[in-house]
Amino acid sequence: MEKGKLLYEGKAKKIYETDNPEQLIVHYKDDATAFDGKKKGKIKSKGKYNLEISNIFFMLLEDNDVKTHLIRQISETDLLVKKVNIIPIEVVLRNVAAGSLADRLGLEEGTELNRPILEYYYKSDELGDPLINRYHISERGLSTEGQLKLLDILGFKINNILKDYLEERDIKLIDFKLEFGVDSNDNILLADEISPDTCRFWDMKTDKKLDKDRFRRDLGGVVEAYQEILK
Ligand code: TMP
Ligand code: ASP
Repeated sequence: MEKGKLLYEGKAKKIYETDNPEQLIVHYKDDATAFDGKKKGKIKSKGKYNLEISNIFFMLLEDNDVKTHLIRQISETDLLVKKVNIIPIEVVLRNVAAGSLADRLGLEEGTELNRPILEYYYKSDELGDPLINRYHISERGLSTEGQLKLLDILGFKINNILKDYLEERDIKLIDFKLEFGVDSNDNILLADEISPDTCRFWDMKTDKKLDKDRFRRDLGGVVEAYQEILK
């Protein structure tokens, strides 16, 4: 499968057309950004690790009847996916207080939540991905009510599957972000990626951070953390 025209370049990935109008190639870059692109860097081999890690999660989810955009891997850093229109809502699931939730609610980072929290953010680089609720979504027509209900169900379901899978491997799933798209038959598919760029993973025993917070907070050992998650 040959790469066609570059359709879009994001902070961590490039999207190419293919000769099939229903399929795209996603190229994973080593570029890393944080704080809405204000902090920039490169993490050696991140593209390769994230693609592999994300594929493992997407295949696990497919096995549990979650439909995803995944078709097949075509090189170390290139993935063939079904073309979707991305719903401009980032769905964040949280099991433990960290990052912006800890700040917003005045909770100490690491506080176990009574039950998982689901949040929506408006996927807009221009606006800096603000936190939104269902009234904002309806006002801007970002999704239909029916789609939003499905995103909620899928969000909690995916959280349960990933949390259990990771717990068996001694990793705590603190929080993560999902993106969904709509295909040409109006199916909602999980899209984008699930990787240390888009999740917080802590070692179950030591609480060591094994995700992009090592880059965001200059903690060192970034590549090693991504390798550990892949292992
Ligand atoms: P936050 O605590 O900064 O709101 O992040 C919550 C989770 O969402 C965390 O696992 C990182 C992920 N995330 C992204 O993948 N992309 C983003 O742009 C943001 C802000 C968070
Ligand atoms: N906000 C995202 C993060 O910190 C990425 C970025 O802002 O460039 O994960």
